[in-house]
Amino acid sequence: MEAKSPNESRTTLTDLVLPSETNPLNNLFGGELLARMDRAASIAARRHSRRIVVTASVNHVAFNKAIPLGSVVTVEAAVSRAFKSSMEIFIDVWVEDRESGRRTKANEAIYTFVAVDETGTPIQIPQLEPETDLEKERFAAALRRKQLSLVLAGKMQPGDATELKALFD
Ligand SMILES: CC(C)(COP(=O)(O)OP(=O)(O)OC[C@H]1O[C@@H](n2cnc3c(N)ncnc32)[C@H](O)[C@@H]1OP(=O)(O)O)[C@@H](O)C(=O)NCCC(=O)NCCS
Repeated sequence: MEAKSPNESRTTLTDLVLPSETNPLNNLFGGELLARMDRAASIAARRHSRRIVVTASVNHVAFNKAIPLGSVVTVEAAVSRAFKSSMEIFIDVWVEDRESGRRTKANEAIYTFVAVDETGTPIQIPQLEPETDLEKERFAAALRRKQLSLVLAGKMQPGDATELKALFD
């Protein structure tokens, strides 16, 4: 199976924040942003694997900046590392200034998707070859994030999480 670049899965969704999608402070409701991120990440995972994909875990979400009503929000997702059947997807969220058009980073998240066959059984996927410095940085850190996620899910013994332990040595 030929390796793919992050650009082959990169997925960009741009949409407005409407009144029905806001909280009492008139900022984007967190659950709405999670849904938009899940959708973009799912398309990125599908583009990388060309398979049915399911969300296995949400590894990290940071709601750093509130996103006001009427904002133009861009969610950009790309595979940051591929393992055997699972993929880490890194998601950057940008808000566009109405007058200058300049984009400011508002939030980010990391999801794990698994490629499965028609019976829901995990299936092998192509590897990822990072190209830019940022892609290489995200690729390098992905293994310890996978180990942390598996330990928290009770699917890996902490003693086996070698990459994760190395952080504290
Ligand atoms: C995700 C799912 C396919 C994993 O199935 P499983 O029986 O645990 O399969 P495995 O143990 O072989 O794991 C498959 C891969 O997922 C990874 N994985 C499983 N749980 C994970 C977690 N919590 N975090 C990170 N990776 C995880 C495994 O490490 C493995 O990766 P690899 O093949 O790249 O090494 C299964 O749990 C599932 O179908 N869950 C429901 C998914 C769903 O419906 N999502 C929508 C939520 S509404």
